Amino acid sequence: MSVNETTAVTPAATTGRRTRAGRILLLGGASEIGQEILKALDAPPGSEVVLAGRDQQRMAELGAGLPHFTVRTVPYDATDLDGHRRLVDELFAEGPIDLVVSAAGLLTPQAELDADPRAAGTLIETNLTGHVTTLLAAVPHLRAQGRGLIVVLSSVAAVRPRRANFVYGAAKAGLDAFARGLADSLHGSGVRVLLVRPGFVIGRMTEGMPPAPAATTPAAVGAAVAAAVRSGASVVWVPRSLGVLSHGLRLLPRPLWRRLKR
Ligand SMILES: NC(=O)c1ccc[n+]([C@@H]2O[C@H](COP(=O)([O-])OP(=O)(O)OC[C@H]3O[C@@H](n4cnc5c(N)ncnc54)[C@H](OP(=O)(O)O)[C@@H]3O)[C@@H](O)[C@H]2O)c1
Repeated sequence: MSVNETTAVTPAATTGRRTRAGRILLLGGASEIGQEILKALDAPPGSEVVLAGRDQQRMAELGAGLPHFTVRTVPYDATDLDGHRRLVDELFAEGPIDLVVSAAGLLTPQAELDADPRAAGTLIETNLTGHVTTLLAAVPHLRAQGRGLIVVLSSVAAVRPRRANFVYGAAKAGLDAFARGLADSLHGSGVRVLLVRPGFVIGRMTEGMPPAPAATTPAAVGAAVAAAVRSGASVVWVPRSLGVLSHGLRLLPRPLWRRLKR
């Protein structure tokens, strides 16, 4: 994994919209939600985005659809825990990064994980451990800059483990706790953490699944994140009503909770 292995994409003409972010790193560069976050930000001409992910061709195609940005792609595998520090060091050596969006994620059906514990390990590495090793590698650089924003994609699944997807829920609960602790540890450094908790998002990750109540879309998540970036919020639920609903989810008696089919 090296930043030398990149693909440059020239962005389309810009319209002069404005943002505070000059250089952005999207981990999980082909993520639908990540792409919608980029589109929703008010990026001024000349902003750079580094799409870090597995499929360079797909990311280059998606990058061509991002107006206002100069786009590059770099290889990034969330499960390559040994490679994260080197990649991050190389990217920061090229210049400051204003916004890091940690969006890599995998949703494998629970039944498949029950039958293949190693696949469950991969899910945990992708949804939790890889975020930890990558973001902790970025933290010293961000502290040294004295500014920056880390956006972490948690989930409503972090609130309470459901039997229908408890390995995914465990990973998201761990990631959510990590992000909250990281936010506190960075307090006063000039670096901020924005924790995003979407509900069911109708898109590539949930393809073929019937939408859950209060389902949302990647575009709605992108818009909510962009608004939170501007407002300085530290947590955003999408849709917003999930924040209130989550209290109810926590309080539901366990015999009832256990009966939930999904
Ligand atoms: N969709 C939902 O309902 C929902 C709800 C709440 C939270 N979230 C979270 O939001 C984030 C973005 O999800 P999304 O809806 O945008 O789904 P998505 O479009 O499937 O994006 C997930 C991205 O993660 C990447 N990824 C998976 N394994 C990876 C690995 N080992 N190394 C590097 N990248 C890897 C995928 O790469 P490839 O393109 O190579 O497959 C994909 O680009 C995830 O963390 C997800 O858990 C999603």
